[in-house]
Amino acid sequence: MTKILSAVAWPYANGPRHIGHVAGFGVPSDIFSRYMRMAGHDVLMVSGTDEHGTPILVAADAAGVTPRELADRNNRIIVEDLTRLGLAYDLFTRTTTTNHYAVAQEMFRTVRDNGYLLERTTLSAISPSTGRTLPDRYIEGTCPICGYDSARGDQCDTCGNQLDPTDLVNPRSRINGETPDFVETTHWFLDLPALADELGEWLEGRAATGTWRPNVIKFSQHILEEIKPRAITRDIDWGIPIPGWEDQPKRLYVWFDAVIGYLSASIEWAHRIGDPDAWRRWWNDPEARSYYFMGKDNIVFHSQIWPAELLAYNGVGPHDGTAGVLGPLNLPTEVVSSEFMTMEGAKFSSSRGVVIYIGDMLSRYQVDAVRYFIAAAGPENQDSDFTWSEFVRRTNGELVAAWGNLVNRTAAMIAKNFGEVPTPGPLAPEDEALLGAIEAAYSTVGTLIEAQRFKAGLAEVMRLVGEANKYVADTEPFKMKAPEQRERLATVLHTLAQAVSNLNVMFAPYLPHSANAIDALFGGDGALAPLPRIEQVEDLGDGPAYPVITGEYSTTPPWAPRPVVVGTPVAKPTPVFTKLDEAIVEEEIERMGGRG
Ligand code: MF3
Ligand code: ZN
Repeated sequence: MTKILSAVAWPYANGPRHIGHVAGFGVPSDIFSRYMRMAGHDVLMVSGTDEHGTPILVAADAAGVTPRELADRNNRIIVEDLTRLGLAYDLFTRTTTTNHYAVAQEMFRTVRDNGYLLERTTLSAISPSTGRTLPDRYIEGTCPICGYDSARGDQCDTCGNQLDPTDLVNPRSRINGETPDFVETTHWFLDLPALADELGEWLEGRAATGTWRPNVIKFSQHILEEIKPRAITRDIDWGIPIPGWEDQPKRLYVWFDAVIGYLSASIEWAHRIGDPDAWRRWWNDPEARSYYFMGKDNIVFHSQIWPAELLAYNGVGPHDGTAGVLGPLNLPTEVVSSEFMTMEGAKFSSSRGVVIYIGDMLSRYQVDAVRYFIAAAGPENQDSDFTWSEFVRRTNGELVAAWGNLVNRTAAMIAKNFGEVPTPGPLAPEDEALLGAIEAAYSTVGTLIEAQRFKAGLAEVMRLVGEANKYVADTEPFKMKAPEQRERLATVLHTLAQAVSNLNVMFAPYLPHSANAIDALFGGDGALAPLPRIEQVEDLGDGPAYPVITGEYSTTPPWAPRPVVVGTPVAKPTPVFTKLDEAIVEEEIERMGGRG
């Protein structure tokens, strides 16, 4: 039993999240965490809303509310959406808590005291018309590295390199197009070059395991070549106060604090379970493993900035130093990044209406149909496109027609002929073959999920669903009407009930809600896959109360064959999955404002 930290990217609280977001960080991390719990590991799954930074400020300005009000509003929506999706966090919190501020400041102080921060005076962009600081991402210009003409001041989306606004050729404001003035300002910089050797060694060690997705490790090693000091403070009045600079209109850079959330959320979780040091088992024990889930635009922060913060905090590298009170802290075991998802062939864009928010999706469609689509067709290893016609095709053609149909007819035939799981006679070779193939899948599917190959794992379970449906077609239990066929009928239906039971366990990480419904259909308690809940909690300091996602997951069943019990009552089923009307394709495209 290994300690597994499931560190899930923190969604920005500048608006509700859309389906592309949860396809990148949400559903994959939940499949993994659920499986690892079933496999007997001690999983701690944490995340929260990312509430600092310019995007929050800009959205608050636009809405005419304070940043805190805007963050509160979206934090609540995101908490509700992710709970409805069934994402089984041990703790989903937020970055505006007293605890997070304290942990982020502790990290900052120790990193500075260990000599890994440089104080530097640089040029900062000011809007000539408003006199306000123009944040990096609101400046665009030509990328000095690849020549892309709409690179942002913080990052080039074409070549993926991090940038400073002063790097841009022909910089201009994305708000009103004016050319910014650059004025002198002083900031703290993370001395990344000083840590480059340590980072490189760590990445080499990770590469040697061969377990990272190839594009993630390649990209991470590539960006090490361009490494330079990175400002971790900003001229902004929304964010975490900087130790030593409390009286200045400056705050910690949102990314410096957001990644610390994994640690602060673990600490908060430990306090909430009444065992304040419990988090250390995931962070201080070198045997513990950590998996970070995100979309690919987050890779640099998880394979460079966060490991650098951790190394500096631990006091390793050329300046030495000593680990702070929380350390030494583990670096990531795996950075699990997905690619991008588009929507009907276009980039998601809230402003252009090319978007489907999670809440809207879940109000119209079954949650496990959404999860199924993401798991089967999400951007796991390459960019993928969400289309409504594909959503209908996958739901009707795969979920309903294959798995739903198998469950439904198995339960219906048992209900009609026996009313309970029947006593089988001797098993025929075809019965043994089906059951054997399904049992063998625990190992193959488990291995695939542990390696974050969720699509392949799901495809294997679906292949076995196909086998089971073929078994029904071959054995034709629906034709066994004669009294002398009754024992064979009982055997076939018992075999099918057992097949469904085991397949359902393997579907549980992917489709927790329907796993529970199917479990109940066959006489179980309907609690095969524990679901998260929302709880209103007090801040650990003197901040306001807030909602968190948490749950009781210790009842998770093992990843192992689940024998059916003869005599368990099975009633006439109602279908677990709902077939979609083809008409929704046009309706949804209409809702998005039509085709192009
Ligand atoms: N808020 C960022 C985004 O949506 C992700 C932050 S991940 C973090 O892209 F954990 F580092 F915060
Ligand atoms: Zn570029």
